[in-house]
Amino acid sequence: MKKVPVMPNHTTAFIRRQSRSPLFEAVTAYRKRRPGYFCIPGHRYERGISELWRREVGDAVFSYDLTEASGLDDLHAPEGAIREAQMLLTELYGAAHSYFLVNGSTCGNEAMLLAALSPGDRVLVPRNAHKSILMGLVLSGAVPVWILPEYLENYGLWGGVKPQTVAQALDEHPDCRAVCLVSPTYQGFCSNLQAIADICHSRDALLLVDEAHGGHLYFSEKFPRGALRQGADLCVQSFHKVTGALTQSSVLHIGSDRLTSRQAEAALKLVQSSSPSYLLMISLDLARRELALHGPEQMDRLYRLSQKARDGLNAVPGIKCPGLELTDAKIPAGSQNTRRTNRPGGQAGPWGIAGLDPSRLVIHVGDLGIEGDTFRRRLFDRHNIDLEMAEGDTALAVLTTANTEEDVEDLLNAVRQTAKESAAVTTPQTDGRTDTGYIAPSAGAKNGAPCSDRPAVFSSLPPTVFSPREAWFAPKQAIPWEKAAGRIAGEALIPYPPGIPMVYPGELLTPEIWNYADTLRRNRRRFHGPADPSLTTFQIIDRR
Ligand SMILES: Cc1ncc(COP(=O)(O)O)c(C=O)c1O
Repeated sequence: MKKVPVMPNHTTAFIRRQSRSPLFEAVTAYRKRRPGYFCIPGHRYERGISELWRREVGDAVFSYDLTEASGLDDLHAPEGAIREAQMLLTELYGAAHSYFLVNGSTCGNEAMLLAALSPGDRVLVPRNAHKSILMGLVLSGAVPVWILPEYLENYGLWGGVKPQTVAQALDEHPDCRAVCLVSPTYQGFCSNLQAIADICHSRDALLLVDEAHGGHLYFSEKFPRGALRQGADLCVQSFHKVTGALTQSSVLHIGSDRLTSRQAEAALKLVQSSSPSYLLMISLDLARRELALHGPEQMDRLYRLSQKARDGLNAVPGIKCPGLELTDAKIPAGSQNTRRTNRPGGQAGPWGIAGLDPSRLVIHVGDLGIEGDTFRRRLFDRHNIDLEMAEGDTALAVLTTANTEEDVEDLLNAVRQTAKESAAVTTPQTDGRTDTGYIAPSAGAKNGAPCSDRPAVFSSLPPTVFSPREAWFAPKQAIPWEKAAGRIAGEALIPYPPGIPMVYPGELLTPEIWNYADTLRRNRRRFHGPADPSLTTFQIIDRR
C-alpha cells in the first residue's frame, strides 16, 4: 500500500515541478499563435461574444475558452498538457490518481459511487449526505443503508459521524461494500476518518469521502487532516469552494489501490461533458500551483483570520460562534495538555466532531430572537454583506485565503450593528419603538423561542419502499400537497441550501416529515427535488 506523506514536502525539485502550469502554458502559447480557428467553440477567441460583455470584461479571458484544438490534449484520453497537470495534482495531494472535474463535485460524487458500486450493492450513507449522493445512488443502482450523524441540539445542526456508529452499522450489515461520508460538512465539522477508514478496511469496505468543502485541508498542521491523509479510498473536492478555482471546478482523487484508475475513468466518462471547459481546467491547474507554492502561508493566514473573526463574533452579545470546544472528547483529569487540538486523535467529542475547518464560521443568532435567515437578509440589505447560507438559528460565513482583514472587520461591524438592532426589537418599548427606530420583526421571528426552521431530527427514519433507482424509474403521479402525507415520495424533498434531502424518493413521506416540510413551505424555504418547487403538488408512487 502506498504510504501517504502528512504534508507536501517542499524540496527544491518539488517546487520546480509544481511551479509549472502545463495546461495554462499550452493554452497561452496557442492563443499567442492564434491559428485560424475552424473548431468548436464557435465564438472564435472573442469575436463571436456579445459586445456588451466584451466591453465590460475585455477580450483576454474569452480567448482562453478553447477546446481540444491541436496540442491542447483531451480530458477523456489525456496524454499531453492535461495529463501532466493532473499528475502534478496527484503529486501535491499524495494521491494514487487525480482527475479534473468540470461539472463540480456533483459529478465527482456521482462518479465516486459509479466507480465503487454495482446495482444492488449496499453502501452506508449518513442522513446529512448532499443531494449529489442521491444522484450517484440512482445512477449506480446501489442501495443505501442509512446512518445518523450526531446532532448538535443547541445549534440545530448535524455534526460528525462517530466511528462506533459506522462499526455498529457494518456489524449489522456486513454485506455493505462501502461507506460514503461527507467530511467536512458545510459547517466545517470533520469526522474521525482515520478511525472510520480502519473500521471499513478491516471489513473489506471502501471509504468514499465527499470532501467537497475540504480541498484546502492539506496545507497546514493547524487544520484538520484531509481525507486522503486518513485512508480514504476515493475523495472529491470542490476547488471552487475555498481554493481559487472557477465555479464548477472540482477534482476526484483515488487514495488507495483498492480501486483501479480504470474504474474511476470509466465512471468519469459517463458523467462529464464531452466539451470540458478549458477555462475551468486552467483554473484547476493554476489553483493547484498556488496551493503547492503558497498553500502553507496562505492557510496560516486563513487560520489567523478565522481566529480573529471567531473571537470577534463571540464578543458580540447574543452571538455564538462555536470553535474547537465542539471537538473535545474528554480532556483527561489532571492532564497537563488542556489545549484542544484540531487533529484526529482516535476519538471525537460527543458530536462526532474530530476537527473543525477554520474556513467556516457558524454564527448562532437564536439568542437574538431572530432566525438565521432574517439575520442574513439584514446583513445584506443594510450592510452589503452576503453570507453563504442560513439555516434555523444559524447563519454561515465562509472565509477563504482571498478574504482580507478589512473584510473581517466589515463583517464584525455589520454583525455588531445587526445584533444591537435585533436585541432592541425583541424588547420593544410600549409604543413599539426601539432606541434604534422602527424595525419590523421578520415573519417567523421567535423572540427567543427555538426556531422551527432547523434541520429536523425525526423520531425515526422514514421506511424505505423503493430504492432510489427503483423510485427514479417508477411511474409517478402528482397529487395535492395536502394529501401527500403517508404516501410514498416519488421525488426528493431537499431544502436548499444546504441541499440535504429530508426524504428520498421511494421513502414514506411520514406525517412527521410532512409537517416539518409544510412548516418550511409556509416559511417560503426553497426546495430542490420536487417538480413543483412551490409544493402545491407533490409526486408520489403507488405501492407495488
Ligand atoms: C457536501 C457537498 N457535497 C457536494 C456538493 C456539490 O458540489 P459542487 O457544487 O461542486 O457540484 C456540495 C455543494 O454545495 C456540498 O455541499
